[in-house]
Amino acid sequence: MALKTTSIQGTRDVLPGESAKWQYLRKIALETARLYGVEELMIPTIEKTELFTRSVGETTDVVQKEMYTFEKGKNSITLRPEGTAGTVRAAIQNSLLDGPLPVKVCYNVSCFRHERPQSGRLREFHQFGVEMFGCALPAADAELIQLVHHLLGRLGILEGIRLEINSIGCRRCRPGYNRALVEYFSGYREQLCPACLERLEKNPMRLLDCKVESCRNIAKNAPKILDYLCPDCTSHFEALKALLDAVKIGYIVNPRIVRGLDYYTNTVFEFTTTQIGAQGTVCGGGRYDLLVEQMGGAPTPALGFALGIERLIMVMEAMGAVFPPEKECDLYLGSIGGPAGIRAFELASRLRAEGFYVLCDTVGRSVKSQMKYADKIGARFSCILGDNELGTGKAELKNMRTGQSSFVSLELDEKNETSLLKKLYDAGIDEAVSRIEDARL
Ligand code: HAM
Repeated sequence: MALKTTSIQGTRDVLPGESAKWQYLRKIALETARLYGVEELMIPTIEKTELFTRSVGETTDVVQKEMYTFEKGKNSITLRPEGTAGTVRAAIQNSLLDGPLPVKVCYNVSCFRHERPQSGRLREFHQFGVEMFGCALPAADAELIQLVHHLLGRLGILEGIRLEINSIGCRRCRPGYNRALVEYFSGYREQLCPACLERLEKNPMRLLDCKVESCRNIAKNAPKILDYLCPDCTSHFEALKALLDAVKIGYIVNPRIVRGLDYYTNTVFEFTTTQIGAQGTVCGGGRYDLLVEQMGGAPTPALGFALGIERLIMVMEAMGAVFPPEKECDLYLGSIGGPAGIRAFELASRLRAEGFYVLCDTVGRSVKSQMKYADKIGARFSCILGDNELGTGKAELKNMRTGQSSFVSLELDEKNETSLLKKLYDAGIDEAVSRIEDARL
């Protein structure tokens, strides 16, 4: 049969075998962020287009070329290309910043950018991000970076990743730097792409992250922002480095990092890798001390980062990092005939409430194929109910690994030594309990 409609280029299906990796990653990310006082925020996928043009910036590639924008009625709507703008909007709109500061939130979101798809670069991708509001000290920058470092360490991939930091200055130091950039790039007007010619007039710093080869070559020798920082930005950056040194987080100062979005001020950073090809930035972030005010909130220093989940999984796979094994079926509870099917269904539902992974026959297989199926899916135990078992209240519980079987009572009484429940608990109580804990996370 020929498939009538295939998926859109640059989008991916996460298949059942793979989705456990995503669940694991999200669980570890949330758990780690919680250790820093971060709570989860959920924001809409669609926002008014103006939210992104105002925050991400009119002259950025994201806004100029990559947004999925459509008209609905009188509104221009955009699928979010990133999570920061929506988070800032939500924080202001819901008065989250009116209480005690700092406020720290995280999000797990899909993002959409119409880029040229390649390995590690998708048109729909996913980010885990953290944003912190109301913290001006360099300690916040260091804490945020430490959170990412901590998370990458828990995922077992720190070895393959390096941290690059920079400062891109504030309202005070930026004008001097912009003048230096205009002077430098003006000498190359004839060789710049049309977008860069516009950037030269409107937003010179964007000239530094143009993806066109000829513009990139020119940008290599452009003036460096670190030479133009004001004393406050310099001391903020020095204090950040001292804090990172204090907790032994290695970094490289890379004056070429300017980030592709306009809202950044002061500290910017990226976690990069050579393990996954050209798209090696797994995490990007920094300060955006002016954005909250720019979006209509009270002046509030802020900072954040976002990790690309697809790229993170690629790094984990490339480095042979260990994903926890998928949970296994504890019991295949088969049946022969209608009444036994009902009893198996009822028993299974009560065992699942205890945290066991139990499967019954929902296909209509013969006893023989039910046993074969239990074997194929790797069930730890199997048990088949028929009229006989219903009559005696006892059934044979087979340990599929050892081949040994014993008769158990179909009671779900923990104290009864021979009860099915007791036997299952003896075989895997810790796992069952931790599974219930996991489900609650
Ligand atoms: P960004 O650098 O544009 O920053 O994206 C963050 C991460 O998302 C990247 O490092 C990368 O791992 C992933 N990513 C970006 N584009 C793609 C793509 N087309 N395909 C696959 N993965 C991609 C931001 O989005 C900022 N909002 C980060 C931030 C939060 N800054 C402050 N707070």
